[in-house]
Amino acid sequence: MDFLAVVDQVIALLRQRGRVTYRTLKRQFELDEAALEDLKVELIEGQRLATDEQGTVLVWTGEVTTSSPSAPPPPPARALRAYTPSYLAEKILTSRSALEGERKQVTVLFADLKGSMELLADRDPEEARQLLDPVLERMMAAVHRYEGTVNQIMGDGIMALFGAPIAHEDHAVRACYAALAMQTVLRRYSDEVRRTQGLAVHFRVGLNAGEVVVRAISNDLHMDYSAIGQTVHLAARMEQLATPGNILLTAATLRLVEGVVRVHALGPIPVKGLAEPVEVFELVGASAIYRRLQASAAHGLTRFVGRETELETLTQALVRAGTGHGQVIAVLGEAGVGKSRLVYEFLQSHRTQGWRVLESASVSYSKATPYFPVIDLLKRYAHVDEHEDTRTIRAKVTGHVLTLDATLQEALPALLSLLEALPEDSPFLHLDPLQRRQRTLEALQRLLLRESQVQPLLLVCEDLHWIDSETQALLDSLVERLPTAHLLLLVNYRPEYQHSWGSKTYYTQLRLDPLLPASAAAVLQALLGDDPSLAPLTPLLVERTEGNPFFLEESVRTLVETGGLVGEPGAYRLAQALPTMQMPATVQAVLAARIDRLPPEDKRLLQTAADRAVRGGTAAPPRGPPGSRVPLRDAPLSRAGIHLQARPDP
Ligand SMILES: Nc1ncnc2c1ncn2[C@@H]1O[C@H](COP(=O)(O)OP(=O)(O)O)[C@@H](O)[C@H]1O
Ligand SMILES: [Mg+2]
Repeated sequence: MDFLAVVDQVIALLRQRGRVTYRTLKRQFELDEAALEDLKVELIEGQRLATDEQGTVLVWTGEVTTSSPSAPPPPPARALRAYTPSYLAEKILTSRSALEGERKQVTVLFADLKGSMELLADRDPEEARQLLDPVLERMMAAVHRYEGTVNQIMGDGIMALFGAPIAHEDHAVRACYAALAMQTVLRRYSDEVRRTQGLAVHFRVGLNAGEVVVRAISNDLHMDYSAIGQTVHLAARMEQLATPGNILLTAATLRLVEGVVRVHALGPIPVKGLAEPVEVFELVGASAIYRRLQASAAHGLTRFVGRETELETLTQALVRAGTGHGQVIAVLGEAGVGKSRLVYEFLQSHRTQGWRVLESASVSYSKATPYFPVIDLLKRYAHVDEHEDTRTIRAKVTGHVLTLDATLQEALPALLSLLEALPEDSPFLHLDPLQRRQRTLEALQRLLLRESQVQPLLLVCEDLHWIDSETQALLDSLVERLPTAHLLLLVNYRPEYQHSWGSKTYYTQLRLDPLLPASAAAVLQALLGDDPSLAPLTPLLVERTEGNPFFLEESVRTLVETGGLVGEPGAYRLAQALPTMQMPATVQAVLAARIDRLPPEDKRLLQTAADRAVRGGTAAPPRGPPGSRVPLRDAPLSRAGIHLQARPDP
């Protein structure tokens, strides 16, 4: 913040509070002696707005405002920047110019203290801040845990965006998880305040998903955005409708998180400013499902087509691993191409009978969480349920591990520590971090290898593009031990991820391409049926989605929701000639996230090309810049797998 901005903020502060000590000013605005002196000169002599009292307090002498003296002052603008994790702040600022002006699929979160005015009414501002700040900090920490950006800090609440300025394909899931995390810590905090101060602190949260355009991003990360339609307004209304301690969301948000969270439907509720009542849901909790394919599997998967050769390759690796020559097999492909489904079909098939299967997956927000997928795997391995206390967890894990092999006793502390179920006085907790890391890696390896001696082991690790460094280290060392183990390590990831196993003789890479047109058409037939009216639609969808089955499914879902298709699943017909097709919000979010991972120059080039394609009114994929003979799809850019125009006409 430049010096004049500091001067302005100090004036605002003084006007509100009347008196502020120099020590507070130094702390709040990070001033050194010289800066403080300059500030005093400016306010006392320059502007004649204050006087000095005994060299310790600055006293306001300007006009007195009539606004409520108990309203807490807004926190200074620098707070936004200071509160955003530095890697995120840097990423946003370095790609700022490419991010500005973009339409983004986002989930907006509003959180505030309900009735804070009554709560703070008789308090002096300093006291009020002491009550409010811990709440705001907890709210912001929850947002950052899921890589949202706090866009505004109001006196008694925040507004945050998930999916902007940097796109996240799962913005709504992240927002829901952040809201739930907020709920957990704030419930604890309000219990504490009730106990210690006899005060009732009530918070509430509102969520809505939609589009915004990021207009400008300032140095302090404040984002100017334009709401498209009701995106932001509705999120704020959800917050205002929420009863104390609750989280409300709209149907548009729920559509993106179905299966992943649990909700109560509250029915249609009238909303100020909108003609029609809005379907509102209360967010109750997270479900045990956190992966897209699991969520779809819960309400029926599309008939599986093709992939015969891929299944054959997997089978060969399995057979070889089964004879004690451990193998790694890596399935690589773009989002939605069918990596998880291939694994799912393989695990369901007769081929893997007689194998012990252990599944794990990294998730988009787990890169910074050590051992995220491993912890999840361990819990399922030992049948640990959500919310079990540490004693039960300890008993279950110990029982499982020692039944397997009593000599694994030494591995127990490390395993229990991963599940936070170690007794407080355990010597393991006093080891230095390096030793702990070593012991943890060893323990996990020993457990897995020992399991593979009892029964051949198929270890599945999905979505390595989101892997954390500790899990990566485990896989790296496990791979070294494979050649003599009855173990098949089956991993999958998107093309941006790399590992160092490529040269191993027991490594196989399986590149998963989009479905061939005939297979894509078969998927469509399963989804839509055979009504003659569909004839012109099928080739169009196959072309538009380029055979990506996720895009196919989502396009059909959008067509059904927008009324372009009518009927029942598996028996639809076209409602009109050829409907105008919107790109599904889910697909847009996947593509936008992919584009945001590109270096800024490539991103700009792509945007120009996409804009041109859109302006040209074609549904065709963007081509290269004029004069280049290489179509974009063959240029380096398209190695990011970008074939579709990313933005529909506004
Ligand atoms: N060969 C296939 N036949 C039918 N549906 C498929 C096929 N492959 C994938 N799908 C469907 O497409 C969607 C995306 O597949 P998924 O495996 O989750 O993609 P990825 O893991 O590569 O992101 C899922 O709903 C899945 O059921
Ligand atoms: Mg997947």
